[in-house]
Amino acid sequence: MTKPLPHAAFPRTRMRRNRADGWTRRLVAETTLSVDDLIWPVFVIEGQNRREAVASMPGVERFTIDLLVDAVGEANNLGIPCVALFPVVGSDGKSEDAAAAWDPENLMNRAIRALKAAIPDMGILGDVALDPYTTHGHDGLMRDGRILNDETVEVLIRQALSQAEAGVDIVAPSDMMDGRIAAIRDALDGSGHQLARICSYAAKYASAFYSPFRDAVNSGGFLKGDKRTYQMDPANGDEALREVALDLQEGADMVMVKPGLPYLDIIRRVKDGFSVPTFAYHVSGEYAMLRAAALNGWLDYDKAVIELMTAFKRAGTDAVLTYTAKDVARLLRG
Ligand code: PBG
Repeated sequence: MTKPLPHAAFPRTRMRRNRADGWTRRLVAETTLSVDDLIWPVFVIEGQNRREAVASMPGVERFTIDLLVDAVGEANNLGIPCVALFPVVGSDGKSEDAAAAWDPENLMNRAIRALKAAIPDMGILGDVALDPYTTHGHDGLMRDGRILNDETVEVLIRQALSQAEAGVDIVAPSDMMDGRIAAIRDALDGSGHQLARICSYAAKYASAFYSPFRDAVNSGGFLKGDKRTYQMDPANGDEALREVALDLQEGADMVMVKPGLPYLDIIRRVKDGFSVPTFAYHVSGEYAMLRAAALNGWLDYDKAVIELMTAFKRAGTDAVLTYTAKDVARLLRG
């Protein structure tokens, strides 16, 4: 037998020391995930006392306003600070000019009022875009097959104002038209809504990961073509920084990167570059992949979802819009 070496053959720095026990792992953890980091997106339907499962998003349901109030009440009890509302609009609410988008009595505005009355301390984020209300499923008005920018912004202003009148806390333009943040900010300020916050979907990519959402809101079947003339090319990162810079200059209070996981590099660049509240949207397709794998027994949903949310935080995200919000909140409670 050879004599063991006295030293040098052993690593002096052992990275495993700090990993050796649960308590040290906790002490040296660089990132903490909390319920305060979650925004729960929910789908609203017309009617009463009805909930429907979304086939492509197992575990996600659409609620009528009365049941929505209960579901959001639960989220509030779990400590989730904010919900994002998405209305499911029937054919009768869809038109070329998207007029239903700014009807004070539309489903969205009725839902906002009901929630604000029942749960005043819950934040409500309202999506601002025309896709639920256009016959062609695009986020803007269309003429000769093209999505019009400035004409769309005029309608987005009306939509944002109608939501603010209903009591929404954050308006979140998800349409990617140019100049809409400044236009909406001016309109809000000019009509007494100085404290209405704007979360701009600043870097929103033309993504394949939105298809379960389009199922959920029943806009997929209506959509003609794709959204690549206004949503961003997944190949681009520098361009996301220009979008964020513009939206901040125009008055955005928070910026969002969407989808989430394939764009963690963008989140990090935005956070490092601007040091502003940065949200990420863990979108429907990302949720569907996770659920599908878990339902097949291919991975552990609880463990995977905490790892994913921690990854968002590590990348620099301040809050994550995620369909898993309630699950995460429960898991964090232990
Ligand atoms: C529409 C909108 C979309 C999503 C949020 N708002 C879809 C789209 O841009 O086509 C997607 C959310 C998700 O996939 O979970 N303006």
